[in-house]
Amino acid sequence: MLYKNIYRDYYKNMKVPILAPSLLAANFSHLAEALGQIDGSGAEWTHLDVMDGNFVNEITFGPKMVKDLRPLSQSIFDVHLMITQPERHIEAFVNAGADYITFHHEAGLHIHRILGSIRDYGKKAGISIIPSTPVSAIEDILPFVDLILIMTVNPGFGGQKLITQCLEKIRTLFSLREKKGLSFLISADGGINPDTVSQVREAGTDILVAGEAFFKAPNKTAMAAILKGTGHNET
Ligand code: DX5
Ligand code: ZN
Repeated sequence: MLYKNIYRDYYKNMKVPILAPSLLAANFSHLAEALGQIDGSGAEWTHLDVMDGNFVNEITFGPKMVKDLRPLSQSIFDVHLMITQPERHIEAFVNAGADYITFHHEAGLHIHRILGSIRDYGKKAGISIIPSTPVSAIEDILPFVDLILIMTVNPGFGGQKLITQCLEKIRTLFSLREKKGLSFLISADGGINPDTVSQVREAGTDILVAGEAFFKAPNKTAMAAILKGTGHNET
């Protein structure tokens, strides 16, 4: 048991996470430039926050935007649907070129069916939970997901403060994955910056979503390295 724990901690500390800058923090009139900055920085994924003015108050963009942006980027498109009735829009985001489609547990009724439909389209299926939803709510569907997105802020805005208690959910998922022999990725979204990122990485996060920290940084390559833990903590 002791050796297992040592191995787990070693693995957690050694792993370099994937970085997914969130376009929400970019200037929406310069999105082509923002995608170029992501590709040029060493970040592997692009995080696209879709908000419908209903599940959350804000409204961002829909599948047309994702489709138009797709040819301008080399990265994996990680679409985060903060919308009600996500099942109505899965096909549109598939056709728009999303690679990962993540919807909220709190917004879907037939979760298992929606996850299956995303996979049937040949895409990766993700589920997200807001800070007030416990991991136990999604435990039964873990075998059917490719990604779990843990919201570390309440959804709706960028630039909020990370709720550290949410990191416990990442630790729990890390252990559950090992225990059940599963392979889903664990993503953390909200409030990740140079001050908070080490505790997020150490919890066992595979995918770091970062909006403001990335787009406000004058040197995006340096910031990407800091967040991934491969660079020096200065921008
Ligand atoms: C919030 C979004 C996040 C947001 C994170 O609802 O899901 O993806 O862009 O922004 P920061 O990194 O600025 O907290
Ligand atoms: Zn997001």
